[in-house]
Amino acid sequence: MEQVPETATDQQRQLQMTVLMTPDTANFSGNVHGGHVLKLLDQVAYACASRYSGGYVVTGSVDQVIFRERIHVGELVTFRASVNFTGSSSMEVGVRVVAEEITTRTARHVITCYFTMVALDENEKPRKLVPLTIETADQRRRWAAAQLRRELRSEIEERSLEIRHHPEDILHDREEHP
Ligand SMILES: CC(C)(COP(=O)(O)OP(=O)(O)OC[C@H]1O[C@@H](n2cnc3c(N)ncnc32)[C@H](O)[C@@H]1OP(=O)(O)O)[C@@H](O)C(=O)NCCC(=O)NCCS
Repeated sequence: MEQVPETATDQQRQLQMTVLMTPDTANFSGNVHGGHVLKLLDQVAYACASRYSGGYVVTGSVDQVIFRERIHVGELVTFRASVNFTGSSSMEVGVRVVAEEITTRTARHVITCYFTMVALDENEKPRKLVPLTIETADQRRRWAAAQLRRELRSEIEERSLEIRHHPEDILHDREEHP
């Protein structure tokens, strides 16, 4: 059996999956069901992070997913995933989704979203990752953006807790100090 190498190559930090949207993926209106797309997004993020880290990973969080446009049954949907950033045991995986109308070959960018995947060891405890090597300008840009999103996630989590526990106080303060 081949050993998992210490550092991942470009192919190992990126992963692409293309899926045909068959009629069984439709919702009540006849377009592709959002839940089906969410499941595929999670699968792609899992496969990308697991391959990069050479072990088991779980989904820690998913940032806001915006469905910019409908995806139609019969379209070919491509998910491009990339590890943008590594922390100690977590990594950010960005996924870009493009839907293609097969007969006209017209492609539309429909979703971009970001997953935080956490590497776990055999005891299901966070496992240390080999840091991502950053060499190109594009990799530097992705790393910097991911670092800023990591900070933003912490701010959102903190603020969400405040909102959940003290919504009336927050609105009251705002009215008092507009
Ligand atoms: C994700 C999980 C392993 C983190 O465990 P934990 O005890 O909080 O671990 P730590 O505090 O040591 O954090 C480990 C890493 O995960 C990150 N992390 C933890 N919770 C996170 C969250 N909600 N979102 C994003 N990142 C998170 C931390 O920032 C840390 O990153 P770093 O090592 O790169 O600095 C744990 O919360 C878990 O098992 N959650 C359930 C995951 C799951 O089942 N997903 C599928 C849902 S059906």
